Amino acid sequence: MTPEQLPETAAGELLTLQRAAFLAEARAHHDLDLPPLLETLEQVRAVFADPAVTVWGLRDGSRIVAAVRLRVHGDAAQIGRLAVAPDRQCEGLGTALLLAAEAAAPAAVRTFRLTTGEFSAGPLRLYARNGYRETHRTPEGVHELVHLEKVRVRARS
Ligand SMILES: CC(C)(COP(=O)(O)OP(=O)(O)OC[C@H]1O[C@@H](n2cnc3c(N)ncnc32)[C@H](O)[C@@H]1OP(=O)(O)O)[C@@H](O)C(=O)NCCC(=O)NCCS
Repeated sequence: MTPEQLPETAAGELLTLQRAAFLAEARAHHDLDLPPLLETLEQVRAVFADPAVTVWGLRDGSRIVAAVRLRVHGDAAQIGRLAVAPDRQCEGLGTALLLAAEAAAPAAVRTFRLTTGEFSAGPLRLYARNGYRETHRTPEGVHELVHLEKVRVRARS
């Protein structure tokens, strides 16, 4: 599977994937109102129309099995909504897509930032394994949002 930039026509399938994947996080945080679960189809479509955002995905045949968003702002990029279909987790797809989105970021990007919930044990392990370090926490409803950052390492030319 090769990471590909997803088109706006994938918005509906993307939302379905997102809702299925983030349900486990909602249970872990005892909070069904997580932003990825509340996002509407119109909001997902608007993301595709935003020139600062690229949406990357992995397809198995025609089916989207993983997706992630990258929002570039100056020399930083915010990574969000990393999601893998529940039946395809723990195959390395989430890690592969995260690293592919980082690699595809414009050369000006020096720092990657992302957030995850304090009880998201799997994602926290995945991000730590891939070089992300906690910077701070902020309150998010009944739990805390963990803010993580990774400084980009340039390949030697
Ligand atoms: C978080 C998430 C994106 C990870 O995706 P994933 O494809 O399952 O991640 P990976 O397979 O790369 O890594 C996860 C585990 O699989 C293991 N793994 C990696 N490659 C593997 C392979 N080829 N075969 C078997 N296991 C593998 C890893 O060791 C890792 O184990 P651990 O984290 O329990 O120690 C996915 O679980 C998900 O969609 N979760 C819900 C949404 C969410 O929480 N997103 C992030 C919020 S910021």
